[in-house]
Amino acid sequence: MKFNTKTIHGGQSPDKAFGSVMPPIYQTSTYAQTTPGGHKGYEYSRTHNPTRNALENSFASIENGNYGLAFGSGLAAIDAVIKLLSPGDEVISTNDLYGGTYRLFTKVFEKFNIKFHFVGMENIKHIESCINSKTKLIWVETPTNPMLNIIDIKAVSNIAKKHNILLSVDNTFATPYLQKPLDLGADIVMHSATKYLGGHSDVVMGALVVKDKDLADQLYFIQNASGAVCGPQDSFLVLRGIKTLHVRMQRHCENGLLVATFLESHPMVEKVYWPGLKTHPNYSIAATQMKDFGGMLSFTTKGNNFIEAIKVVERLKVFTLAESLGGVESLAGHPASMTHASIPKQEREKTGVVDSLIRLSVGIEDADDLIADLKQALEG
Ligand SMILES: Cc1ncc(COP(=O)(O)O)c(C=O)c1O
Repeated sequence: MKFNTKTIHGGQSPDKAFGSVMPPIYQTSTYAQTTPGGHKGYEYSRTHNPTRNALENSFASIENGNYGLAFGSGLAAIDAVIKLLSPGDEVISTNDLYGGTYRLFTKVFEKFNIKFHFVGMENIKHIESCINSKTKLIWVETPTNPMLNIIDIKAVSNIAKKHNILLSVDNTFATPYLQKPLDLGADIVMHSATKYLGGHSDVVMGALVVKDKDLADQLYFIQNASGAVCGPQDSFLVLRGIKTLHVRMQRHCENGLLVATFLESHPMVEKVYWPGLKTHPNYSIAATQMKDFGGMLSFTTKGNNFIEAIKVVERLKVFTLAESLGGVESLAGHPASMTHASIPKQEREKTGVVDSLIRLSVGIEDADDLIADLKQALEG
């Protein structure tokens, strides 16, 4: 099956009871047994639930993997990956990454004696210089949040394979519509399914997909043992969201281009970060690795003024000022005071998250309305 068919049918079969085309929402915690152990494959919903399983099959299908796992949030999915490690192990991570991931790594797992190295992975050499015998995982987020840097997944995977290190890729921004990390050599692909996979800003959820059975078994064990699963209602909603992923992504990309082009030509805008612009430093990797360039972009205003940037986002009317991204509606955020506030100012500025940086999740509204909104907000 091709991708646009997989989003709708991948891993799905009509319900056995009545042939319902969408899986029923099995809103149950437990399942009747005829004798101890005499059940139909389901014992307890932390371990397995038919609606969640239908979604997990869809995750596996759209990412070209063999095994999918759904969690109560993206961070719960990341938490499960780090629990593959033991005290003393080391991780090399993208330095420009979602603030919550950075917080989980540094504030939760460092206490358990797992060491994290944060490096700019646009330059592959930075990775190899951090590898030692304790390195067990490379954590890649690409495009990065919020600077939209692009990391060459295939090149990182070659390094990971050479040193026998696991490679995990956060594919939240790109989605499998734009890039498939497992095909490029990653071992684990991770999603905040809260974003584009769900697509409608109505669910918080995480996903993992792998190809390897041993790795899947370890992760299923952690999923059940730690218990950070999502419920059947949310599973249903994300499964429904995925059915239109390809159509939504196509429009996000079209609108992303129009908005990026508008911002680039606006006299009050200093810099636009969107991987589809030829001026983007990683444009050629983006063009090779991704099918298109997505709907996420960031920009700075001239003068780099914190208060001015806040005023711009406050004046927006079609864009909603909100955390999160990837829904059908356009959202705007001010990373320095919102998503990345948990990263120290000195640290965030090193990666470009300056005071005037504004991040946009360009939705699928009419692009003319989005551009008019940005124009009035910039010009006050
Ligand atoms: C790139 C990325 N990864 C992970 C997460 C965490 O996901 P969740 O909010 O579903 O826990 C987010 C959330 O914004 C994100 O943007």
